[in-house]
Amino acid sequence: MERIAVIGLGAMGAPIAHRLLGQGCQVTGWNRSPRRAAALREAGGAVGVSPADAVRGAEAVLVMVTGPQALLAVTEGEHGIAAGIDPGAVVVQMSTVSPSSLTRLAQALPAGTGLLDAPVLGSVAEAASGALRILAGGPPELVERCLPLLTRLGSPLRVGELGAGTAAKLVANNALFGVLGVLGESLALGGALGLSWEVLHEVLGVTPLAEQAARRRPVIEADDYPARFALALARKDADLVADAVGDAGLTLGLTAASRDWLAAAEGAGRADQDYTAVLAAILHAAGKEPRR
Ligand SMILES: NC(=O)c1ccc[n+]([C@@H]2O[C@H](COP(=O)([O-])OP(=O)(O)OC[C@H]3O[C@@H](n4cnc5c(N)ncnc54)[C@H](OP(=O)(O)O)[C@@H]3O)[C@@H](O)[C@H]2O)c1
Repeated sequence: MERIAVIGLGAMGAPIAHRLLGQGCQVTGWNRSPRRAAALREAGGAVGVSPADAVRGAEAVLVMVTGPQALLAVTEGEHGIAAGIDPGAVVVQMSTVSPSSLTRLAQALPAGTGLLDAPVLGSVAEAASGALRILAGGPPELVERCLPLLTRLGSPLRVGELGAGTAAKLVANNALFGVLGVLGESLALGGALGLSWEVLHEVLGVTPLAEQAARRRPVIEADDYPARFALALARKDADLVADAVGDAGLTLGLTAASRDWLAAAEGAGRADQDYTAVLAAILHAAGKEPRR
């Protein structure tokens, strides 16, 4: 697959499009805000005037937009992907969305269109360097057909049939948000109980939180959270998880609590910071930060 359309040229979609271009693919992009597509044109890619226009002639269409509403907006209607896609082309849905929006996407595409569910782990740097973990759901033969394309972007992990990629991504992000929540609360508790920052890190270093505590320590110390994965997107994902929990008839307390921390951090004006700013929000809310 050499003729690729990339719909959504945001923090993740742009490096994906540029990487494919750099690997010799013919890339046509589209972005709702045209200014974000300018760099692709300058780098030698093409830019469509609508999703329908951008996907015409493409063998594969990668979609990397915010979430369910954006997915619907770029797929349906007279200017949507479904209106322009070539017979036999494959849509690779990489955004983090809900299971129901994937079902709707499958229904919106013309018969004969292939559809892979392929959300990703990793962030902007991994997208640029081809080091994403791709959670691929779909028919085995379609995953197989798309492997050469997916491996340009990272390491595909086949997780099941269509929908399994989205399910796996929600599970992975739930784990991530939960660990950050427990880390933030453990740091807040240590501060409230009078432990110093140094001692707290020594203690956390011998717990199951060791890796995350060490990894997040520098950003907390710098109190600087430039967004790679914006906190508003993480809260969006936590809401998707909460909906999935409800739809499955479950009550998951830790999951709900970590979602509430992300919402509180967003409410405290941190929407555009990196999602790890939830740690600062937890520490500030506790009011008693550990002694440095
Ligand atoms: N950033 C990360 O580290 C990361 C990691 C893993 C997964 N993800 C997931 O990857 C996806 C993209 O994330 P990102 O970081 O690239 O986000 P982003 O920088 O905010 O980009 C979002 C993209 O979606 C488009 N969009 C939003 N609403 C739209 C609408 N109604 N119609 C058409 N296009 C719309 C935006 O267009 P405009 O430019 O016009 O706003 C932009 O192209 C999300 O599902 C996110 O959860 C992100």
